[in-house]
Amino acid sequence: MSQTWKFGPPLPPVELPETSHAPDWQQARPASIARALKRALERPHGNWYVVDASRRLGEAPRLFRVAGEDLVAWRAGGELLVAPDACPHMGASLSRSRVCEGKLVCPWHGLALGNEGHGAWGTYPVHEDGVLTWVRVGPEAPDTPRPVLPPRPSLFMEGVIRMEARCDPEDVIANRLDPWHGAHFHPYSFASLSVLDLDDHVLKVRVAKKLVGRLVVETDATFHSPEPRTIVMTIVEGEGRGSVVETHATPIEPGRTAVIEATLATSDREGFRHALKLNRFIRPFIERSARRLWVDDAAYAERLYALRKGASA
Ligand code: FES
Ligand SMILES: [Fe+2]
Repeated sequence: MSQTWKFGPPLPPVELPETSHAPDWQQARPASIARALKRALERPHGNWYVVDASRRLGEAPRLFRVAGEDLVAWRAGGELLVAPDACPHMGASLSRSRVCEGKLVCPWHGLALGNEGHGAWGTYPVHEDGVLTWVRVGPEAPDTPRPVLPPRPSLFMEGVIRMEARCDPEDVIANRLDPWHGAHFHPYSFASLSVLDLDDHVLKVRVAKKLVGRLVVETDATFHSPEPRTIVMTIVEGEGRGSVVETHATPIEPGRTAVIEATLATSDREGFRHALKLNRFIRPFIERSARRLWVDDAAYAERLYALRKGASA
């Protein structure tokens, strides 16, 4: 008889919904997913978009396409700058510039461009939140002068992945608002997944995550969307309580989305503070695990997009 070994203290018993022993596809509530998605899409966002992990943005210029605009990002004296990629002289791509004293030097006719701008060309508002870099593309909204950030643990190890999917941001959020697909769609990661509580704003699940072989760790986690292009999983009970996974969906252009996912893992175990020094060695494992899930979840989101587009054609 097969046996699963649980790691960590047992969680308090909960009364699961009556349908919890039914197959996932019978438990699934597509109408609940649609309602939670609608609520998420109504939240203010202030035109802020996640670009990438801040540590991946250095002095060398990098090209990003965000909401249909080509942008160049580079650091000058440690400060991150983001501006239109097209040179204001004759349109050359500034991502091919060399950087001299913090300024981009256009590869075509050598115009030097920096923080002070040039005519209509100028830098965009940027926010670095300690892990991720955001850019505002579009007008400032009075109620969101900064990005809407979820609570984070005070001490954490982090890993950030960036992937692309052929869908819109709402398909990425809808994927995460569907807890019922987890155990079937990612059998290599989850032994079981049950919905504990569900409303239009917060979803609570109990997850048995596979570690090695038959060793699993059981946790309770909530999902909520602080703004329309972000969904956050927070471990609220069990091993790693307080850890969060922030999934951000940045539109590149219609039908193309960048998924930027930050895992911020914390622990109240003794010695975790010292273990933080090992973050750079542990990061590849965090990122490999997140990437593996997103290979499947991107296929799910792309399927949603294809269905929506097929339905509206
Ligand atoms: S196109 Fe950049 S300086 Fe001419
Ligand atoms: Fe998934």
